[in-house]
Amino acid sequence: MILLIISPLIQTSQADVGTAAQYSPPYLPTSCYSESASQFPSNNLFAAAGDGIWDNGAACGRQYMVRCISAAVADSCIADQVIQVKIVDSALALRSPPSASGTTIVLSETAFGTIANNSAAPTSINMEFQLPGHVMDNLKLNRGLLPMQMQMDIEVPSLPLMDTDVIKMSS
Ligand SMILES: *[C@@H]1O[C@H](CO)[C@@H](O)[C@H](O)[C@H]1NC(C)=O
Repeated sequence: MILLIISPLIQTSQADVGTAAQYSPPYLPTSCYSESASQFPSNNLFAAAGDGIWDNGAACGRQYMVRCISAAVADSCIADQVIQVKIVDSALALRSPPSASGTTIVLSETAFGTIANNSAAPTSINMEFQLPGHVMDNLKLNRGLLPMQMQMDIEVPSLPLMDTDVIKMSS
């Protein structure tokens, strides 16, 4: 019964908005897994958690869905790219300094370059992020991609009651 009540609330929750910078090698050692090379996902989509989401180290291993929504530099976002990054480090303990300080998250070069246009050379971007398990359609339908009226038209219909938890990744 509780699940039935809570489930729709979880599913309609929007992603959070934050900022992202990038950092370069050396990536080791990390605050989460020290020198272990196997900590990095093979697609190199990983990140360091900023102070706000580091959670005293509890953030280690968490997987965040991230999408670029805007930046101070024009043409910085690669449209419709959503990545899933694994937290392996703390942004405050990186070997190489991030491209901007104080961001919500600091992405690996590969992660940053997948959602942001490095030719435009943004030092940081505004992003939408959330832990997986929510309906990813929320990200696709979210502000920025569609005119406000269309968003409302699309978001109003009720979502399926039970979460499928299927995450479709763009590669
Ligand atoms: C990337 O940035 C460059 C330089 O600002 C720009 O010419 C190009 O159109 C951008 N590409 C995309 C996909 O926005």
